[in-house]
Amino acid sequence: MSTGAVIGLGYVGLPLLVHMAEAGHTVVGVDTNADKVATIRSGQFDLERDYGSRAGKLIQSGQVVVTTNFDELAQADFISICVPTPLDGMKTPDLSYVRSATVEISRRLRPGQTVVLESTTFPGTTADLVRPILEESGLHAGVDFYLAYSPERVDPGNPHFDTQSTPKVVGADDQTSLQKIVDFYGSFIENVVPVTGTKTAEMTKLLENTFRAVNIAFVNELSIMCERLDINVWEVIDAAKTKPFGFMPFYPGPGIGGHCIPLDPLYLSWKAKSVNFFSRFIETAADINNNMPRHVVEKIIRMLGTAGVPGHLAKVLLLGMSYKPDVADYRESPSYEVMELLLHEGVQVAYHDPYVPSLPIGKHVMESVSLSDIEAYDCIVALVRHSAFDVSDIASRAKLIFDTRNMFQGIDGPIVRLGDGTRSQQSHGDGKHVVPLRG
Ligand SMILES: NC(=O)c1ccc[n+]([C@@H]2O[C@H](COP(=O)([O-])OP(=O)(O)OC[C@H]3O[C@@H](n4cnc5c(N)ncnc54)[C@H](O)[C@@H]3O)[C@@H](O)[C@H]2O)c1
Repeated sequence: MSTGAVIGLGYVGLPLLVHMAEAGHTVVGVDTNADKVATIRSGQFDLERDYGSRAGKLIQSGQVVVTTNFDELAQADFISICVPTPLDGMKTPDLSYVRSATVEISRRLRPGQTVVLESTTFPGTTADLVRPILEESGLHAGVDFYLAYSPERVDPGNPHFDTQSTPKVVGADDQTSLQKIVDFYGSFIENVVPVTGTKTAEMTKLLENTFRAVNIAFVNELSIMCERLDINVWEVIDAAKTKPFGFMPFYPGPGIGGHCIPLDPLYLSWKAKSVNFFSRFIETAADINNNMPRHVVEKIIRMLGTAGVPGHLAKVLLLGMSYKPDVADYRESPSYEVMELLLHEGVQVAYHDPYVPSLPIGKHVMESVSLSDIEAYDCIVALVRHSAFDVSDIASRAKLIFDTRNMFQGIDGPIVRLGDGTRSQQSHGDGKHVVPLRG
């Protein structure tokens, strides 16, 4: 058994630490956030699959140490870096967290250690940023210490795959580094996929997430096209996915969210520009996806107007604020932007989300309301398909529903769907659009 270290104990780092330790390795977890370290130590850290309480038990047994002190890295044979890689205010990559974590390692680096970058980033980060900082220690990569890149592909909320059962791509720029990390990760991850070079591994992650962003953008564009052509895009997708080969369904929605899909493609297009390559697919996809919240809000305001309720007098309830179903994470959630745009229109907005009890809105905190008062709202906007929602009950009480996720499929009621021209755009022949209102 070895001693591992994980730097950055968030959605990615803490599960990695737990799986490493549950396989029998001794593990040190380092995070700069002292409050988070204290919560993890108490076993109360709230993360899916009981990772928080599992970490607490491993800490109690002495197999795991969680700390803010980077000096604890000295005992580790393998150090995995899982710190954030956000975009800055100009939508360019912010590698400051990766840089500062690497500097801390470099100050303490000793011969024989293996460093693995896990944070999502553009091709060349491991070789051109991390390696030179580590070599400031006087040690050489591939000779004195070992260096690899392994993207985290975990899909939070996915009941079928976790960190351990999702195949793990690893790349290194020399054979010894590759073998070391394949052996170590292979000791607690079911399937390790070695590739040639750190850049290939970095690019693999960006291909996967750019693929999703581009396909979601395409189907979002198609949904708007269907609205104009009086076609129901959801029925089209359901029919198309009966083809047993050559088609993979993606679904429209109010935009894209989370820490990965909206950001990762922009890491790639930013890097591509450094070699004078402009990715039209990535920019077009970002443009379409980023405009979806606006499209949704324009539709809501139009529907309310048709129902005789001007926006500034309307009361709207948003269903779901997280970025995807059955998770609490609301980072980059498009629901947030839908809310802000509605508030900007003067609409009185409330939200309900069983996973997000409160939400910072500017300098204020908004709290999730109960569903007891559905009848009081002029429109219910379905934004996230949480499995806890009782859609039949909501449909039976709502005056008007705008469904951006087709979660009211097959249910009768005053429902208008995103991407469904067949109900929201129907004309009486007098040029007026029909909105099936109740009440
Ligand atoms: N969340 C996901 O679903 C997901 C999936 C795949 C990949 N990723 C990638 O994994 C990386 C980490 O994402 P996350 O969601 O776990 O982030 P997170 O914000 O949940 O956790 C990051 C942790 O790193 C800590 N940290 C920041 N700077 C540090 C430093 N210099 N030293 C030590 N700790 C530091 C923070 O306090 C925080 O606890 C990102 O690059 C992200 O793009 C995330």
